Amino acid sequence: MTGMNNSQKTFSPRIVIHGAGNVGRRLIRFCQLKGWDIVAVLNRAGDKVGMDIGELAELGTDIGVSVQDWELVDYQSLGADIALIATTSDMLDVNFPVYEKYLRAGINVLSHNTQAYNPRFENPSVAKKIDALAKSQGVSFTGSGIWDTTRLWAGIIAAGACVDVKEIVHFATAEIGRQGAQWEEDIGVGLTVEEFQKKYAKEPNSLSIFLHSPAVIVLQKIGCTVTNVHKSIEPVVFEQDVFSPFSERSFPAGIVVGTRLKIDVETEEGIFGRVRVEYRLFQDNEIEEISWKIVGMPGLEITVRRDDTANLSASSLFNRIPDVLSAPPGIVEIFRMGPLNSTALL
Ligand SMILES: NC(=O)c1ccc[n+]([C@@H]2O[C@H](COP(=O)([O-])OP(=O)(O)OC[C@H]3O[C@@H](n4cnc5c(N)ncnc54)[C@H](OP(=O)(O)O)[C@@H]3O)[C@@H](O)[C@H]2O)c1
Repeated sequence: MTGMNNSQKTFSPRIVIHGAGNVGRRLIRFCQLKGWDIVAVLNRAGDKVGMDIGELAELGTDIGVSVQDWELVDYQSLGADIALIATTSDMLDVNFPVYEKYLRAGINVLSHNTQAYNPRFENPSVAKKIDALAKSQGVSFTGSGIWDTTRLWAGIIAAGACVDVKEIVHFATAEIGRQGAQWEEDIGVGLTVEEFQKKYAKEPNSLSIFLHSPAVIVLQKIGCTVTNVHKSIEPVVFEQDVFSPFSERSFPAGIVVGTRLKIDVETEEGIFGRVRVEYRLFQDNEIEEISWKIVGMPGLEITVRRDDTANLSASSLFNRIPDVLSAPPGIVEIFRMGPLNSTALL
């Protein structure tokens, strides 16, 4: 673990932001808001390299820190406490070369890439390498993002009130474009129903790669061992035309506007997990809703309504910084930490 002062008044971590995209830019703004030290912002080669981070994050003034090419940096000399990783891929194996640079340099890693929420379940062999490397350098590895509070801890807290659990059910309706217009195409928006079915019969839909995770994590937190995960996927269509403010395109009635996923998780203990989610375009005045229904004794439902999801995703990652800096070495998943704490007074 790298050094930091636990006193609230002097909490001032030295931060690297890796990936200067949508999330990375918001992280820069949050660091500026707190007055926390950004020691470097790294990106892959391209237009962003060389740009002042004040310009990149539209702060209205230059900061005197320029984006650097991640492959040309001496990580040992960064002097950072923590690296916030927000690269394009959500896969642990793709991002491992990035994680490795920081862990080898004795820098804690907090990743926004979706598989990082639960590395030991998602990719045991890469997780083993991350864990061993982190432990050898005395630093920790954690994944967080918008799921932290809205999908994971919401479910853990609901189940936590029950003395018996038969089934946990996760429902969600999310407006896909809020986290980047590119996601619309990724989940089949604009295809015909036939094109959708043909496409996703051959290749995994990117949502289906990840969305078992909320149920798996809540079940693991209860103490279950997951034995089987079954997924099925359907197109979502509307009976009326709809306009996306993100891709600035109109889609006629009958054309695919999103993906509906049904995921069933089985456990050794006989407690079932179910995920029923729609990621799609929204019609006027719809709001994102996420809920957990715990079937058991006495059972409980928790509903979360999310609005500013782009900032929520970055702020959820950002607010894990104190927990990561005080975590023991190795992989420490957010479900082994407590619920998120605000950084309002830090
Ligand atoms: N955990 C969650 O709850 C959650 C929620 C939403 C999103 N996400 C994930 O968070 C990540 C970041 O999202 P985003 O919207 O910020 O994506 P983005 O706008 O595409 O930004 C990614 C940035 O990373 C850069 N990059 C890619 N590979 C790199 C590498 N190996 N080293 C350095 N820089 C690299 C890209 O460079 P270019 O300039 O060349 O493109 C781009 O600037 C994605 O994986 C996304 O799926 C997670």
